[in-house]
Amino acid sequence: MFKNSHSVVKYYFDEFICEGDRVADATAGGGSDTLSLKLRVGQSGFVYSFDIQNEALIKTEKKLNENGITDGYKLIFDSHSNMDKHISEKLKAVVFNLGYLPGGDHSIHTKPDTTITAVEKSLDLISEDGFVIITIYHGGDSGFEERDRLLEYLQNLDNKKYNVLLYNFINKPNCPPMVAVITNEEFLRRKQLGKI
Ligand SMILES: C[S@@+](CC[C@H](N)C(=O)[O-])C[C@H]1O[C@@H](n2cnc3c(N)ncnc32)[C@H](O)[C@@H]1O
Repeated sequence: MFKNSHSVVKYYFDEFICEGDRVADATAGGGSDTLSLKLRVGQSGFVYSFDIQNEALIKTEKKLNENGITDGYKLIFDSHSNMDKHISEKLKAVVFNLGYLPGGDHSIHTKPDTTITAVEKSLDLISEDGFVIITIYHGGDSGFEERDRLLEYLQNLDNKKYNVLLYNFINKPNCPPMVAVITNEEFLRRKQLGKI
């Protein structure tokens, strides 16, 4: 059962990310997701981690190093909307945690256009059994616009190609974060038919 957005994301990490997987954290921030991903993919796996703030990448590197991790990852100082320039292999998962860096400059945050471009590119990068998971913070200065634009984009994804599931705690106050998960519809269909 899911208490909040964190427990949803944790479930997907625990259930579907395995030793040896190649994954990307599209929003490194304080590094918690990058660390969780790296702990799951292990020594043989690899994590690409993006942020537009050097401060976030420094925090992320520190977190990894404090946990004894010194390789098997790449911190990328660039927008996730350029992820195709940095990654040329299939990924098991791309993880987004939208919004601003906690404890950082709140005026620097994810934005609808770059987020949607990055999600689009993520869908090209994931393997057929892969997924894209997005924690959507809404509220604040621009969160509603980003939420609305992103949800509109997700609702219009080709339903023959993609399956989009939205977790939304609809009876909770103060706009708790939602989680959207995008998977490959064709892969799920073949799996259901026992062809995989
Ligand atoms: C909510 S924080 C991420 C939290 C992080 N996943 C964690 O575990 O701590 C959002 C991060 O996205 C970054 N960001 C904003 N726009 C971005 C972009 N276009 N490309 C990559 N990162 C971006 C911000 O700088 C911020 O550090």
